Amino acid sequence: MDNNAYKAHYDSYVKLTEDRLLTLCDRYLPATAEISRAARYSLLSGGKRVRAVLVLSACELAGGDVNAAADYAAALEMLHCYSLIHDDLPCMDNDDFRRGQPSCHRKYGESTALLAADALVTAAFEVIANAPLSAESRVRAASILSKGAGARGMLYGQELDKYFEQHRADADQLLNLHRHKTGALILAGVQLGCAACDTAPECSDALETYAQEIGLVFQIVDDILDVTSSTETLGKPVGSDAENNKTTFVTLYGLDGAHSMAEQHNNAALAALEPLGEKADFLRCLARSLLVRNK
Ligand code: IPE
Ligand code: IPE
Ligand code: MG
Ligand code: MG
Ligand code: MG
Repeated sequence: MDNNAYKAHYDSYVKLTEDRLLTLCDRYLPATAEISRAARYSLLSGGKRVRAVLVLSACELAGGDVNAAADYAAALEMLHCYSLIHDDLPCMDNDDFRRGQPSCHRKYGESTALLAADALVTAAFEVIANAPLSAESRVRAASILSKGAGARGMLYGQELDKYFEQHRADADQLLNLHRHKTGALILAGVQLGCAACDTAPECSDALETYAQEIGLVFQIVDDILDVTSSTETLGKPVGSDAENNKTTFVTLYGLDGAHSMAEQHNNAALAALEPLGEKADFLRCLARSLLVRNK
């Protein structure tokens, strides 16, 4: 798959997700409430939609119906957006910009931002409950999303992230932190894609290993960009990690060391795809683009 074909395919997944998000927002987050307006402000203002793309590409690879899976992709983006709104709050990372605009609490105030994020979580589960897929699939999806997002997944990662502002993390502790705070929702992406298929696909183990590895790549690169990029390019503040005294892959290994860790995990992700042959080409390109991304 050449780069143009990859980009066109990626954009088609994003378009499907954005269209679905608009419809679902009208249904579940009507702009009559201030918290819905705040939720839509954050949700519909861009973002790379990587997690949605993982849902849709895993579903397609596994032989499922991508249009039906678009509801799972949208639900995961809602959940992810809630995590970003909370992540930016003064009691968390205290960041004033997100997706190229004032962060939700800077625009709407803290209490509205807090509630808007909560509204996104509940909307995500309502979307899953009403998705055009079998009841069995929807129960599986609700279970996947709860596990990935909750106290054994992303939220635990956020707890560790705060803890290691005050304490030094060693390499294993940092990996564990990244696996939870970022890896868990990326893993949920491929799991939701598989859950959208009628029967558990044979490729699910390979896809899960792939997702776990690119999840690490994703956060290592996020840590690198916090040091090397600009607020203009990223759409969020750079230098936030140093300001909050975070332990990151850059503080532990330096920029070159962090790059080579990212490459190692990228290689492990590619190795996991090997048995899937050509049909995993899109996921190979995706892994590469996450390794070399600049925003
Ligand atoms: C940012 O996620 C939070 C992390 C887990 C590093 P993204 O970099 O995917 O943010 P958007 O969705 O593109 O804005
Ligand atoms: C956040 O990690 C992960 C979440 C669960 C939101 P970061 O705090 O590094 O994400 P950014 O850099 O603010 O996007
Ligand atoms: Mg954070
Ligand atoms: Mg942050
Ligand atoms: Mg970061």
